[in-house]
Amino acid sequence: MDGFVAAASTADVPPGERVVVQVGRTWIVLFNVDGVYYAIEDRCTHDDGPLSDGRVIGCCLIECPRHGAQFDLRDGSVKAPPALVPVPVFETRVDDGMVYIAKAKKR
Ligand code: FES
Repeated sequence: MDGFVAAASTADVPPGERVVVQVGRTWIVLFNVDGVYYAIEDRCTHDDGPLSDGRVIGCCLIECPRHGAQFDLRDGSVKAPPALVPVPVFETRVDDGMVYIAKAKKR
């Protein structure tokens, strides 16, 4: 699978769970939200807080635990301040019980 790296087995990330993995020099948090995998950089664009410690809201939002910024897990867009800049997101794929994360961010 060109351009992707194996991040975790699906068994390691059941629905409602998350894992942090390093891809190259970037720390990425991989979420399983009701069977859908999302991968975003584990660093809030407001003040570098770890998004992996944040609360998932509904299907698609992650709330930074430090000051409450919210990002859309699907595209990284900001949904609540104080962050102003989107968080990088990475494409995910599932194959043969493994979750893969793209090496390059979507944007
Ligand atoms: S570090 Fe995330 S909202 Fe401030």
